[in-house]
Amino acid sequence: MTVDVLSEVAAGTGDLSVWPASTARLPHGGLAVGGVSLAEVAQRFDTPVYVLDEGEVRGRCRTYRDAFPDAEVLYAAKAFLSRAMARWVREEGLGLDVCSAGELELAVTSGFPPERIVLHGNAKSPRDISAALRLGVGRIVIDSSSEIARIAAAVGPEGRQRVLVRVVPGVAAGGHEKVRTGTEGQKFGLSAADGSAQEAVARILAQPRLELAGLHCHIGSQITTVDAYLVALGRMVELMAAVHEVHGAVLPELDLGGGHGIAYRPGEPALDLTALARELRTALADRCAAVGLPLPRLTVEPGRAIAGPAGVALYRVLAVKRSGGKLFVAVDGGMSDNPRPALYGVRYAPRLVGRASTAGCRTATVVGRHCEAGDVLAVDAELPGDVHPGDLLAVPVAGAYQLSMASGYNMVGRPPVVAVHEGAARVLVRRETLDDFRSRDIGG
Ligand SMILES: Cc1ncc(COP(=O)(O)O)c(C=O)c1O
Repeated sequence: MTVDVLSEVAAGTGDLSVWPASTARLPHGGLAVGGVSLAEVAQRFDTPVYVLDEGEVRGRCRTYRDAFPDAEVLYAAKAFLSRAMARWVREEGLGLDVCSAGELELAVTSGFPPERIVLHGNAKSPRDISAALRLGVGRIVIDSSSEIARIAAAVGPEGRQRVLVRVVPGVAAGGHEKVRTGTEGQKFGLSAADGSAQEAVARILAQPRLELAGLHCHIGSQITTVDAYLVALGRMVELMAAVHEVHGAVLPELDLGGGHGIAYRPGEPALDLTALARELRTALADRCAAVGLPLPRLTVEPGRAIAGPAGVALYRVLAVKRSGGKLFVAVDGGMSDNPRPALYGVRYAPRLVGRASTAGCRTATVVGRHCEAGDVLAVDAELPGDVHPGDLLAVPVAGAYQLSMASGYNMVGRPPVVAVHEGAARVLVRRETLDDFRSRDIGG
């Protein structure tokens, strides 16, 4: 074994299974993603910086298209959106799920066909609704009964908008309590159990300016087994059958949302997409046949499973210290670019890049630079014991719900996003600067 590989084994970082498929080892502890050395990216664009592997994003879109050839696949833009991301997803034949006028305008003004876009949101603002109608989104997902009249009124006498109803199917699934959205007693959707969903369906069917295209549910996020989806599917088909029985309406679409789980650290489970697609297809055919309904067109809305594994966050170590028997490694980013550990207790596997080390591995807590004790990026990170200021740390699986949830905390500024592909690196989103903060602060 070479010194590099020995030090990786010692530090427990030799496993690249959660990294983008293009990841390659370079001499002296280096790593390349998309054919570009991560150390060079850090040198050229400064840190913290987010690296997005275009090939990995495109490859993941294709995996979905292949697994779900008869379904509509919408990329959930909330995971991460930029103009380039919208273009890659469009070119790979996916649609888009957006949940604000902002996401919608960015997508449409960068050439995304509006008819392939679905607008979500538990509290749509007048601006969200008017942007959706002005730009001509394919469908709007109704999330509360008060939206029905609001959207119908905004459509105007000449128009007709396709809508779905977001249903609470009463299914608990997902990697954390805060991302379980299929149960009663949380803010999304209309309950099938208490009749709110059925009532909304009746009101929409009575609205000439709205066309009920189907039902939607999103049961949660970071789900790693198929079972919960099958339970949700069964309940949704039951509801479609009830709609048919009561109103005589055959709904042509069934959207089962996203939530497909991925591994953040080596050895963690991920949802098997091929199994999901196969089992959903079979269950849908069986259930529909059992209740005498024609097959609706299935839609899925993955976000994390497309963007997450394509991203790598790079940080420079600023300080190393021991306290209370723990080794703290502090880096130049933190909860302002990645709030997920603080929000959901998510765990990552950072590794040292750009330097070979023969030191034995230590368990370290990688913390951010913010004024918050909860600003922890990774607990129990296995790093070489000689980790020191100036070192570069890379955090894989950083492409989803990090920058899209980033904040201006401590005016540190949000990091840039650099796309890597076939040996070339280019900035997609520039770094947020002090001038950006200053220019918004117009009070004097
Ligand atoms: C309605 C809806 N669809 C899709 C998604 C995407 O979920 P994930 O990124 O876990 O696939 C979300 C996430 O919150 C959502 O709310």
